[in-house]
Amino acid sequence: MTENVSSTVPAGTPAGDAPKRKRFRVQDFVARKEAGDKLTMLTAYDGVTARIFDDAGVDLLLVGDSIGDNMLGHENTIPVTLDEMIVAARSVARATKYAMVVADLPFGSYEASPEQAFTSAAAMMKGSGAQAVKIEGGQRIAAHVKLLTQSGIPVIGHLGLTPQSENMLGGKRVQARSDAAAEQLCQDALALQEAGASAVVLEMVPAPVAARVSEILAIPTIGIGAGKDVDGQVLVWLDMAGMGDWSPRFAKQFGAVGAALRAAATDYIGEVKSQAFPGPEHTFEK
Ligand code: KIV
Repeated sequence: MTENVSSTVPAGTPAGDAPKRKRFRVQDFVARKEAGDKLTMLTAYDGVTARIFDDAGVDLLLVGDSIGDNMLGHENTIPVTLDEMIVAARSVARATKYAMVVADLPFGSYEASPEQAFTSAAAMMKGSGAQAVKIEGGQRIAAHVKLLTQSGIPVIGHLGLTPQSENMLGGKRVQARSDAAAEQLCQDALALQEAGASAVVLEMVPAPVAARVSEILAIPTIGIGAGKDVDGQVLVWLDMAGMGDWSPRFAKQFGAVGAALRAAATDYIGEVKSQAFPGPEHTFEK
């Protein structure tokens, strides 16, 4: 049997010469950081988008609790339940062949104790087929991360703006601007690494602070609003693809998918009304 040799296919490689792509594994995190090969992560909340992003070559698919504000009509991530997350993660995992599927544990499902975190993470892993979980916080959840990783559950940390705590943080603001807060962020990141985390997401952190955290860690950092001197990037797919008119300042719209969908729906409505659709080619004869 041929051994798969690469978790990424270099851009521009002719199809016939491309090394066979293998599924991204937990061991690839540090190898990719050491090679200076940036990690790519996108959110996905269903199998349709997961299949497209997986096929495009993304390394990691994040079933984010941002499903709350992006898909479920909530104002933020706080109302999202573990059951909702498991359903979404199952749909993503079933559609994904190569990317590592990382599922958020939602607010209220892990903070109280390492045991609560284990119960929720085990339910997620069994119920969805995701390959890792992501949880928010630093030193205060290090014991939780340690129990999960020692139990065989890969964990991605999340520091900086942690949306599940947005009520304590006073909204969605850039974090770690002061020297003291930047130092605390470094200590939190080191505590997650020490506890066995595979990578750390840094959200809305000044670029020099994110660069410093990336320098002191052996595990990769994955930034969102954290500048370019991190080991990878993550975006919410709706922001990346241009689904809406607005996206946060740190996100770039790489397409205008919302406008394209709207145009397709408008054309469909017009053609049904004008009876241009269905044409003979869409119609069965007796
Ligand atoms: O839920 C989410 O989409 C996230 C990203 C913002 C990193 O946690």
